[in-house]
Amino acid sequence: MISKWTVDRVYETARIEEVIGDFVQLKKSGANFKGLSPFTDERSPSFMVSPVKQIWKDFSSGKGGNVVAFLMEHEHFTYPEAIRYLAKKYNIEIEETVQTDQQKQETDLKESLFLVSEYAQSYFEDTLWNHDLGRSIGLSYFRERGFTDETIKLFGLGYCLDQWDAFTQQALKNQHKIEYLSGTGLSIVKDQEDGTQKYFDRFKARVIFPIHSMSGRVLGFGGRILVSDPKAAKYLNSPESEIYHKSKVLYGIYHAKQAISKLDECYLVEGYTDVIQFHQSGIKNTVASSGTALTPDQIRLIARLTNNITVLFDGDAAGLRASLRGIDLILAQGMNVRVCAFPDGEDPDSFARNHTTYELEQYLKTASKDFIQFKATLLVAETQGDPIKRAETIRDMVQSISLIPDPIKQEVYIQSCAQIMEVSESVLFDTLAQIDKKAGKSTPVRHTAPRKSFEVVKPNPDRERKDQLQLLEQKIIELLLLYGTQEVDFEELIQTTQSDGSWVMERKKFTAKVFEKIYLDLQMDEVELSHPGFKALYTTLIQGYHTDPNFDAQRMVHQLEEPSAQLVAYLLMEDEKYQLDAWDRKEIYPKEKSASLAQLVTETVLTLRCFLIDKIMEKIQSSTLSPETDQEEALEEVMNYRQLYNLLNQHLGRVVIAR
Ligand code: CTP
Ligand code: MN
Repeated sequence: MISKWTVDRVYETARIEEVIGDFVQLKKSGANFKGLSPFTDERSPSFMVSPVKQIWKDFSSGKGGNVVAFLMEHEHFTYPEAIRYLAKKYNIEIEETVQTDQQKQETDLKESLFLVSEYAQSYFEDTLWNHDLGRSIGLSYFRERGFTDETIKLFGLGYCLDQWDAFTQQALKNQHKIEYLSGTGLSIVKDQEDGTQKYFDRFKARVIFPIHSMSGRVLGFGGRILVSDPKAAKYLNSPESEIYHKSKVLYGIYHAKQAISKLDECYLVEGYTDVIQFHQSGIKNTVASSGTALTPDQIRLIARLTNNITVLFDGDAAGLRASLRGIDLILAQGMNVRVCAFPDGEDPDSFARNHTTYELEQYLKTASKDFIQFKATLLVAETQGDPIKRAETIRDMVQSISLIPDPIKQEVYIQSCAQIMEVSESVLFDTLAQIDKKAGKSTPVRHTAPRKSFEVVKPNPDRERKDQLQLLEQKIIELLLLYGTQEVDFEELIQTTQSDGSWVMERKKFTAKVFEKIYLDLQMDEVELSHPGFKALYTTLIQGYHTDPNFDAQRMVHQLEEPSAQLVAYLLMEDEKYQLDAWDRKEIYPKEKSASLAQLVTETVLTLRCFLIDKIMEKIQSSTLSPETDQEEALEEVMNYRQLYNLLNQHLGRVVIAR
């Protein structure tokens, strides 16, 4: 276990805006930072980070919390993983309280797959640099391609020997299980006729490109063959696994994320070598889709960092034509898209290798065209003198424009396309209306920005409300006491945008212990339980559960002082009879007990948060009476909270009605 000393040091040192800044492009906004929600698919920023309070809040998903909660939500780290990540980032030495002999066995499947992948990465890298054949075959190949040693090291490139199972055997010798080696696809297991098994290295005789996550963990590999063999694929990639989802990764994102965010621009290329060569040439804001069509998840990954994408094409017309379609997807995500074609026979890699950084920069600057204008120009050239084709082309063009979520941008594009294609604007607007109408039928929920006016909530400090608040707080404590460590399947509603720009609420299932769910949900709103007795109990329980896996809430009663002891004893006696009563009264009949527990926890937490948020809004609004308050900022803050409030209420409605 990580010592409390280390945890404290981490909390003292970590700057939330720096940590989150690695994943989300943040812009200063008053005392806070703002950005696009990394959890939903929004277009106007409602994600806030407060450096003063060291918290973040995502108004479009309702999530929020401290720096550790961010890493747990965003990177799906466990609590210790988040602490370790921060310790590494800030060069804090980790002090362990218990030695980790058993830990290897206890880590879950995902962690094991990560460990195997990290092992493989360093094995292949070691082979490249230190094995005779690694040096003479792998290393010299990379050097011949113009990669410097520094670049080769930066990207962790490697080599897998031309032997059937050299890697697998070495990994087994190092206590890695075949289950995980085959789970990551690094080893291929073949059943023999005699009932035994034979192992093969997937990447035999290939140079290795490790594929990293946004946070730098090795997820999978690409392996390039060195001899040209028409029967073998030039590149072989890791198969899908628990940790590697091809549609959700972009090659180079780890090495590019800071530059993308800083320069507010991302270059998208096709291949591993394009990324590496660009990086070496100083164009570090480059990622690759690895030869496949771009997916919405990949675009979302970029959208966290910037709104501006430039797609770079290899210099062949066929590829270009095919790629135009994929770009519509980027438009639909509200991004600004530019395209840049390379001269015939060149790809970004070869171009970068044959030119100076200055020439490359100049080329990117002058050859990049706005996508819509580029497409219009291309289509016009293709359909010279063919009126029928031309009509088709116009529809195709407007189709792309219809995907742009921002109506003002649409209008600007209609105007410039009218000029390029030499048609009247009204024809284009009519076509747009037709397409919209058609799309409208199949997708009734179009996204419209929920802009609420500044409502003044009447201060309403009546008694009933206070009682209800206390009841809710009591319920939270009860849930923690009775079911704290129980694992439950929760459901969350997440807003996602579809390719046509409309959005839907999607259900996402996840498993968590009751105390984890309550903790993560409740620590977001900068508020504490209002009842001092409950507040103290809450802290004790949450700390107990988090730090001690064998924490026994019931035994804790004996260590408490009055009046908490009495309160806990009373609550413990309540038992679940009470819970079921509550459901009866609401005429909800959950099918199974665990489903009802998930519902109970979710509903209690949501209701409490609505209450507390209501209180915050009241407080901000009464603060606007003071001349020292920045009215505009207060207004914005209330609007954000109102948005969150509505969202939570919506969840609540769904949760209660859904079953
Ligand atoms: N690719 C793949 N499998 C293949 C061919 C290509 O996964 N059989 C992916 C790789 O990610 C590759 C990208 O598509 O980097 C682009 O392919 P290509 O342009 O053919 O390769 P280059 O990146 O140009 O590689 P090289 O310069 O080494 O030929
Ligand atoms: Mn190439």
